Amino acid sequence: MRTIIVAAILLAAIAPASAQSVAPPGAAACSGCHALGVGSASIPPLSGQTPESIVTAMQAFRMGQRQATVMDRIAKGFSDEETRAIADWVGQKR
Ligand code: HEC
Repeated sequence: MRTIIVAAILLAAIAPASAQSVAPPGAAACSGCHALGVGSASIPPLSGQTPESIVTAMQAFRMGQRQATVMDRIAKGFSDEETRAIADWVGQKR
């Protein structure tokens, strides 16, 4: 009986509080340049943008439809699914 209670407490402790608060793979790479609250003249801020606008921009960078210094290369490193997950996560940080 006591073992069951201990196991339950351990399980509750290791279960993530919210899956949404965990950054998807790759997202940490964005905040290095785009400090997620502020932008600069050359690096636009990502906070305040919707996930849709981030996905659209990433696709345009990847396909060379949008002028870029670095984002074209970065965007090519992520699949559609990864880009979507990153955009959803970054878009929540508004
Ligand atoms: C090496 C620095 C750097 C990193 C890392 C970086 N970015 Fe960027 N980002 C830029 C710069 C600089 C621009 C402006 C376009 C350009 O010159 O490439 C930009 C532009 C953008 C834009 C267009 C924003 C707008 O308002 O026009 C989006 C969206 C974006 N980045 C998303 C991301 C995401 C998502 C990641 C992580 C996967 C990321 N960036 C990682 C430097 C970076």
